[in-house]
Amino acid sequence: IRPHPRASQEAVGTVLLGCLPISADSVSSWAEVAFSASPLILPVVKMDLERKVFGQHLAVQLVLRALNANIYSKRPKKPLVMSFHGWTGTGKTFLSSIIAENLYQPGAPRRSFVHHFNTLLHFPHASRVHLYKEQLQNWIRGNVSACPRSLFIFSEMDQMPHGLIDSITPFLGYHEEIDGVYYGKAIFIFLNNAGGDKITEIALDYWRRTKRREDIPGKELQQLLSEEIFRNTNSGFFQSQLIQKNLIDYFIPFLPLECKHVKECVREELRAQGHPEDEDLITEIASAMTDYPSEEGIYSSKGCKTVASRVTLSI
Ligand SMILES: Nc1ncnc2c1ncn2[C@@H]1O[C@H](COP(=O)(O)OP(=O)(O)OP(=O)(O)O)[C@@H](O)[C@H]1O
Ligand SMILES: [Mg+2]
Repeated sequence: IRPHPRASQEAVGTVLLGCLPISADSVSSWAEVAFSASPLILPVVKMDLERKVFGQHLAVQLVLRALNANIYSKRPKKPLVMSFHGWTGTGKTFLSSIIAENLYQPGAPRRSFVHHFNTLLHFPHASRVHLYKEQLQNWIRGNVSACPRSLFIFSEMDQMPHGLIDSITPFLGYHEEIDGVYYGKAIFIFLNNAGGDKITEIALDYWRRTKRREDIPGKELQQLLSEEIFRNTNSGFFQSQLIQKNLIDYFIPFLPLECKHVKECVREELRAQGHPEDEDLITEIASAMTDYPSEEGIYSSKGCKTVASRVTLSI
């Protein structure tokens, strides 16, 4: 039985963000118009990512490849599922919001197509996993039936109650349709701090052997990440079926940011706040932030996360 999308949304509306502003039928046609599937979309996303995201060549490359494969396919066999991993402040949320901004036509009611789940906000109580499972399924089923090209972003995956994410396993697999709903055009992005230490360990190893971070092989890192996340009890994917059944298409590593990347963030922030690009100030803030490992100070343990407030305080 296919539940009416609006009905299932009302059921979870009190817990989860967003709601459809108009009837499900009109959203469906809106979505067709709103999704910019023209050949132009990826070059625009590419330009935006390459211009705005610093130090994440691997993540940018993989994300573009993943989007390319799904978006240009007429009828993808499964939804696109990407899992972003890395230390805090390395750009996971930032990159996912660039995708969300570019995927739909300007002016489209993005709220209806982009759904953001924050574990701490939406799934705070481990004892309520059963309830959350049902709500999550209803929410996804309802929204994908209204808009096949829906984007679901799950942040703070490392805090997610054990077993909850497996409730969406059926939607992420290779099915023509489930109860009349086709999921192949949906996009799922998971944001996770788990795996960050492993990524940093590898990046540091390259740095110590005076090898370029650009030479870190993406394929091996992805494999290591999937194993690490499956083993890690605090990853949201501990012994998860999603990994066991290979339903996560891409494990995307976000490398720790070096002083030169943090400098770019500071420069960008100064510009955004309308201040001159004071090189001394840029160096001062970025150097103070590159604190890991304590002896060498190569990476910023907070990424670019506190840059905005540091700039505000320094001016
Ligand atoms: N690689 C980057 N390039 C450019 N700006 C960045 C980058 N990483 C972080 N930033 C800046 O820092 C802010 C915070 O980063 P973001 O929220 O994306 O981090 P995150 O990886 O999601 O961290 P967390 O794991 O804590 O959620 C961004 O809004 C952006 O302004
Ligand atoms: Mg984030």
